[in-house]
Amino acid sequence: MKQKETGAENRRRFLMKLSLGLGGVAAAAAGIPVLGALFSPLFGKAEQTWRTVGSLHDFAIGSTNLVTYDNPDPKPWAGVTVHSAAWLRRDDEKNFIAFSVNCTHLGCPVRWEQSAELFMCPCHGGVYYKDGTVAAGPPPKRMVQYAVRVRRGQVQIHTEPLPITHITA
Ligand code: FES
Repeated sequence: MKQKETGAENRRRFLMKLSLGLGGVAAAAAGIPVLGALFSPLFGKAEQTWRTVGSLHDFAIGSTNLVTYDNPDPKPWAGVTVHSAAWLRRDDEKNFIAFSVNCTHLGCPVRWEQSAELFMCPCHGGVYYKDGTVAAGPPPKRMVQYAVRVRRGQVQIHTEPLPITHITA
């Protein structure tokens, strides 16, 4: 025979259902962006996009600069990864070279060390020469390079709309 539940048992049962429901909502909120990022490459190759990263006059010849840009077509789950960056060096009056900021080992952002003229990865000690080739450490391939062009005095780099660099080099 079923006994009548007390007020405390009713409250406990209600709170347990409420916490399970809220836990499910939180898990969905956290999981949807992750699943979206994992499965988005399955929905076709990302289209590449030219992005303006500054005026021609912003970059001195011989300098290597960190440039930032936002994804113009962000996925709803992108969050802060909608902001991305690249290393841009001006070799001479007309020629630039640009690299993804992400290490080709596990994707950590690399730093440019001007005095050594090397890109250094803080995560596992990966090192790249200034042309993007691997100098030392675990990176399996050279840095991902982006095409660069100048249009109406603006420097543009050719990158993918996804917030995560595709390692294709
Ligand atoms: Fe750069 Fe591992 S992520 S060396």
